Amino acid sequence: MKHFIELKDIPSKDLKKIIIDAKKRKNKRKNLNTLEVDSGSPLKGKLLIQMFEKASSRTRLSFYIAIKQLGGGTINLKSSEIHLGRGGESLADTAKVLSTYGDGFMLRTSNDKKISSFSKYLKIPLINGLSPSSHPTQVLSDIFTVQEIKKRSINNLLICWIGDSNNVLNSLIAASVKFSFPLNIGCPKKYRPKKKIIEWAIKNNAKINIFYNAKDAAKNADVVFTDKVISLNDNVNKIKKLKDFKNFKIDNKLMSYTKKNSIFLHCLPRGNEVTDEVFLGKKSRVWQQAMNRVHVQKSILLYCFGKLR
Ligand code: CP
Ligand code: NVA
Repeated sequence: MKHFIELKDIPSKDLKKIIIDAKKRKNKRKNLNTLEVDSGSPLKGKLLIQMFEKASSRTRLSFYIAIKQLGGGTINLKSSEIHLGRGGESLADTAKVLSTYGDGFMLRTSNDKKISSFSKYLKIPLINGLSPSSHPTQVLSDIFTVQEIKKRSINNLLICWIGDSNNVLNSLIAASVKFSFPLNIGCPKKYRPKKKIIEWAIKNNAKINIFYNAKDAAKNADVVFTDKVISLNDNVNKIKKLKDFKNFKIDNKLMSYTKKNSIFLHCLPRGNEVTDEVFLGKKSRVWQQAMNRVHVQKSILLYCFGKLR
């Protein structure tokens, strides 16, 4: 069994294998209904326990569909409804119980330490379904989407991120190392990625450029990513932060500096970091991006269960 916690800790060859498997499985499902099971039912009878300490629409649904298509099932736990953190049950005891009843555990948490503690005590695979510092299942799926649309390997494409240095960007930086693609980051200076993350990236031969203006970051990009300025875990003066980002909004003018056939991606939910004309426009592939979470997470589950061929 394997955990899926941080892209930076997973070998490139495994991440690439997950993407290859997802592509094959997606192609084979063209004529199947949502809950029809893949041939061979590779995770028959397996239970994925999902726990959300924060809101989720896509991650929750896409994992539900993913494990169903592999022959297994899910149950959702709300942290407010279980003993962990109240009534005195320790995380170690909860982890043992989860490992007794379930076969895998997907956690969305507001606390990075909880991910590492669970990984220590669980006897079943742990999947990070978003933490304050990373969102690895989202970003691996986004790499798949880029390659699917561009019909080529991502390492030859210029990827651009305009926006906050948040969990999604941290995972995108890790992905840029694992998949060797150039990454331009455009953000206000005050909101640049943490020193520790950039130092890790540089040490690992990342091709990252940081710009403090959006136009320079977007120039000639093949793909433009963004995300909300205010994330779920953001404990900041929201009005001030939104004001700080006023020159980093993605509109048609900014997209005009990118390549002619560039695309726009956003993990959703969205705020006002992008105009409707871009988000709903010709270059946007956000719905395809959301759907691909199902396909890539199936292969992530197979990887965790030691069933990736
Ligand atoms: N993109 C994403 O993870 O969406 P949810 O917060 O709805 O799960
Ligand atoms: N950065 C966002 C991603 C949501 C999927 C957040 O953490 O709220």
